[in-house]
Amino acid sequence: MRSIYPLRPFVADLPATVPFVGPEAQERARGKPFRARIGANECLFGPSPRAIGAMAEAGREIWKYGDPEGYDLRHAIATHYGVTPAHVVIGPGIDGLLGHTTRLFVEEGVHVVTSDGAYPTFNFHVTGHGGTLHKVKYRDDREDLGALLDRAREVSARLIYLSNPDNPMGTWWKASEIAEMIVELPENCLLVLDEAYSEFGPADAVVPIDADNWQVLHFRTFSKAYGMAGARVGYLIGEKGLIAEYEKVRDHYGMNRTAEIGAVAALADQEWLKRTVKMTAEARERISAIASAPGLTPIPSATNFVTIDCHRDAAYAKSVLEGLLKRGVFVRMPGAEPLSRCIRVSAGWPADLDCFEEALGEVLKELG
Ligand SMILES: Cc1ncc(COP(=O)(O)O)c(C=O)c1O
Repeated sequence: MRSIYPLRPFVADLPATVPFVGPEAQERARGKPFRARIGANECLFGPSPRAIGAMAEAGREIWKYGDPEGYDLRHAIATHYGVTPAHVVIGPGIDGLLGHTTRLFVEEGVHVVTSDGAYPTFNFHVTGHGGTLHKVKYRDDREDLGALLDRAREVSARLIYLSNPDNPMGTWWKASEIAEMIVELPENCLLVLDEAYSEFGPADAVVPIDADNWQVLHFRTFSKAYGMAGARVGYLIGEKGLIAEYEKVRDHYGMNRTAEIGAVAALADQEWLKRTVKMTAEARERISAIASAPGLTPIPSATNFVTIDCHRDAAYAKSVLEGLLKRGVFVRMPGAEPLSRCIRVSAGWPADLDCFEEALGEVLKELG
C-alpha cells in the first residue's frame, strides 16, 4: 500500500497492530472494571514494601533526570549475579530491550526465528525494523529447541528468540538442555533468551550466565516476580563488548528515575521475593485444582500463570474466555494453533481465584 508520508517503505505495509489489547481498553468497552485482573501475568502480590517506600521518597525528587548511566541499578544487578556492571544494560522492561536488540541487529533482509504463538512483542519489534520472521511450531506445548536451530540454519538467522520458562504455555526446558542448544548455535546467530519468569521456576531451569559468550543474551525484568510491571524496569546481561554496543543505541534518559530507585530496593529485599514465589506457587496449585475439577487440564507451569487445556478447538476456548470476561474475570488465551485450545490464568489472591472458580463453573455449564 502506498503512503502519503515519507516513511521507510516497509512501514506502510505493516498491519496496525497492538500486540496486546490491555485490560483497561476492555474495561472501557464493558463500561465497568473487572472483578479479577488475572490475565496479564502481573504480580498481584505487589512489590516489596521497601521498594514502595523508596519510590515514595524518590517521588519528591522527580524533578531530577535519572542518572543516564543507571549506575546504582547496574551495580546492584551486577553484584546480584556476580558479573561486572559492564555486563549489564538496563532498559524500559524486557519489551524495551527487545526493541534495542532489534535496533542493533535487524534491518530489511535480516532473518529471525521464533516459535508460532510465542511472545508477540518480539515479533512486533522485528517487523518494525523490517526483518523477516520465521516461526516454528511448538512441540508438546514447549518451544522446540531442535526445530528453532534447524530453521535458523536454513535461513541463516541472526537471532533466535526463546522464552524460558515460556509464555503463553508456562512450560520450560532444563538449563542443561538449553546449554546443548547454545553449543549448536550457528556462527553469527544470537540467542535472545527471555527469562521474564525465571524466578518462579525450578533452579535447574535457569541457564547459568556465561558472561564471555556474546551469542547468549539474558533478558530479565522487575515486572514479574518483583511485582513492578508498571515501573518498566528490565535488564540484559551479556558479553561486555556487546553490551557496550547497546550503550550506543539505547535511550539514556528513557528510564524513570523513581522506578530505578525502586528496583534497587526491590532487589535488596530477597525475602519479599521468596514470599512472592511461594504465594505464586500456591496460587498455581489452586488454579490447577479449579481447572481440574470440571475436567479441564492445567499444564504444569514454571511461571506466575497456568495455561489450561480446554480440550477442544480455539473457538471453544474463545467461548470460555469470553464467558469469563463477561463475568468480570480478565484472562487471556494463546493466539496460535494448537496452543489456542487453551486459556491462560495468572496467579492472584484467593479472592481473585474465588471469582475465577465461580465464573468458570457458570461458563462451562452454559456451554454444556
Ligand atoms: C515472555 C515475556 N517477556 C517479556 C515480558 C514483558 O516484560 P517487561 O514488562 O519487562 O517488558 C512478558 C510479559 O508478559 C513476557 O511474558
